[in-house]
Amino acid sequence: MAIYSIILAAGEGKRMKSKTAKPLQKLCGKTLVEWVIDEAKKAGSTENVIVIGHKAEDVKAYLGEDIEYAYQYEQLGTGHAVMQGIKPLEGKSGTVMVLYGDTPLISSETLKKVFDEHKENNRAATVITAIAENPFGYGRIVRENGEICRIVEQKDASEEEQKICEINSGMYFFELDELKQALSRITNNNKQNEYYITDTIEILLKDGKTVGTYIADFEETLGVNDRVQLSQVEKILNDKLVKNAMLKGVTVIDPSSTYISAEAEIGMDTVIYPNTIIEGRTVIGEDCIIGPGTTLRNTVVGNGTEVINSVAVDSKVGDNTHVGPFAYLRPNSRVGNKVKIGDFVEVKNSSIGDGTKVSHLTYIGDADVGSRVNFGCGTVVVNYDGENKHRSVIEDDAFIGCNSNLVSPVRIEKGAYTAAGSTITDNVPEGALAIARSKQVVKENWTEKKNKKKK
Ligand code: UD1
Ligand code: CA
Repeated sequence: MAIYSIILAAGEGKRMKSKTAKPLQKLCGKTLVEWVIDEAKKAGSTENVIVIGHKAEDVKAYLGEDIEYAYQYEQLGTGHAVMQGIKPLEGKSGTVMVLYGDTPLISSETLKKVFDEHKENNRAATVITAIAENPFGYGRIVRENGEICRIVEQKDASEEEQKICEINSGMYFFELDELKQALSRITNNNKQNEYYITDTIEILLKDGKTVGTYIADFEETLGVNDRVQLSQVEKILNDKLVKNAMLKGVTVIDPSSTYISAEAEIGMDTVIYPNTIIEGRTVIGEDCIIGPGTTLRNTVVGNGTEVINSVAVDSKVGDNTHVGPFAYLRPNSRVGNKVKIGDFVEVKNSSIGDGTKVSHLTYIGDADVGSRVNFGCGTVVVNYDGENKHRSVIEDDAFIGCNSNLVSPVRIEKGAYTAAGSTITDNVPEGALAIARSKQVVKENWTEKKNKKKK
């Protein structure tokens, strides 16, 4: 039983007031249209056609080759859009679901249920409907003896029809061949001079075909037309994602200030403190403490690790490591196990071996740091000469004295020490101590002499 999808996304989405194409607006870290595509796939759709028009090339560039495209250059209505979307499915038979690129809350669970009912009842079409508190603006489901007989648009509806609270979600399941022949017969003879996909319902019924409805939860049919709706839908989705994490064994202290992306994974018995944002493909292990006030983007965190009041981007942190408060792990930081990255420490494009301590006020950029290294307070890896970046190596068991500058490229060999306040420009051999600061000069009774001069 083949299932396909046609996703309508050619509209301009004027009300978003954005330079970004509407299907590409982000929702919990994933674009609007990807939410729809992913749910369609999960519901069993093997071929997905997206109808694009406005900013078509942007959408295509973003989504890539994984999906098929149909162009609709002029928006002549939803029926006209489906006529374009059906073209790549030429010669195929099976069931096609028609979805909107801006209706991202529709779930694969619902789509599967609709498909099952559609098939069990041998229908030519199934319309997904919902009961709306305020149905204004929507197409209404007109019934006779309890059965759907047509869909009427707000602008074409009589006063009596406008009182109907059952609305057309705009999502449907069709048998492909039935859809094709019904589409060829719709006209734009209506108030908006548009080709309405909704007219196919009446056509199929008049031909004696079976058409049914599926009444979905209104929330799942919510469309995103402006930024207010975007934030409403974001809230609904985030609540779901946070709840999912909790049901999988994650403690979330304050769900209302916790944001978890759709692609994130969090292990059992991890605790998330308030004001924490988990973005992108972040993976967090078990028994971690994350937050408060922490942002992790595309970052992998091992088991038993704490990340407190810190930011990590495109990085990796091992097991039983402590990060923060107020640490910043910039892209491509690879921090090992049992490491301490303390307060006001910044790491960038560097690896830090197991058991190393970087306790405070330190910058490590473009360096490979071994295991059990100790960084004194205020160390700077001087990686930039104004034109180029250079890498440094700090080998196992080295000890970097407080307030050292390690001018890259430089190598601190195994177990070597640098004296506090040193500016290290040459390699320090294994086991050596490098002192690179001027010797202390003591002038006895200097204050007394100075005061005498004054008088
Ligand atoms: C449509 C339905 C209406 C339903 C409502 C639900 C029709 C005639 N009406 O109305 O019954 O209650 O959706 O939201 O179908 N699109 C294109 N090309 C077009 C026109 C639209 O791609 O030529 C896309 C838009 O990008 C949008 C979706 O289809 O994502 C819906 O279009 P819209 O114009 O908002 O439809 P409505 O008039 O709201
Ligand atoms: Ca609409």
